[in-house]
Amino acid sequence: MKKRFNQSLCLTLIIFLVACTARNNTPTPKNRHPSRQLPPLSQDISLLLTLEMQAISKAMMELVPAIATADWQKISDIGSQIKHSYIMRHQLTSQQRQTLQRVLPTDFKKMDFQFHLTAGKLADAAEQHNRELVNFYFYKMNEACSQCHSQYALARFPGFLKSENNSFDSHAH
Ligand code: HEC
Repeated sequence: MKKRFNQSLCLTLIIFLVACTARNNTPTPKNRHPSRQLPPLSQDISLLLTLEMQAISKAMMELVPAIATADWQKISDIGSQIKHSYIMRHQLTSQQRQTLQRVLPTDFKKMDFQFHLTAGKLADAAEQHNRELVNFYFYKMNEACSQCHSQYALARFPGFLKSENNSFDSHAH
């Protein structure tokens, strides 16, 4: 009698678990892709954004051999350059800057801020010749790229739609 009870309990549990898994595997746009949109940006601002993205991309690629060869000075220089932002901050007129402040979503600004902060931490770690920390912050910076793109550049980078481990879902609500 007890055995049968256990068996049916077990079965119920299995059905429950299967149901849960099936539910989680069902891609619903709402919980899988917290796509957020940037407001339409004027052409000049949009161009600056593109230029900045290309510059940080290049800088990230230069970091790879610099880290691999323990070129602390170079890592630190690149980190500081990124921290202080390549183009956006220098080339924006004060009016453009105000507009950006106003129109950019808070979350986007936070991510951008965090990214530049991490670049600064990478520079600090390089100054301390701390290999492990340098690698850690390099990883964090890469993570920041995909985090922001997976939310604000989905149309441009649709690969994120197929990304299973969208760890940013928790912020989507
Ligand atoms: C805070 C948000 C944010 C962060 C952080 C970020 N990006 Fe972007 N990135 C964008 C947006 C928005 C676009 C524009 C997408 C579009 O064209 O619709 C973009 C576009 C790009 C492009 C395309 C540029 C082109 O030629 O049009 C590249 C390359 C790129 N990002 C690289 C990076 C790399 C590498 C990192 C990290 C080291 C990074 N981005 C971090 C928001 C971000």
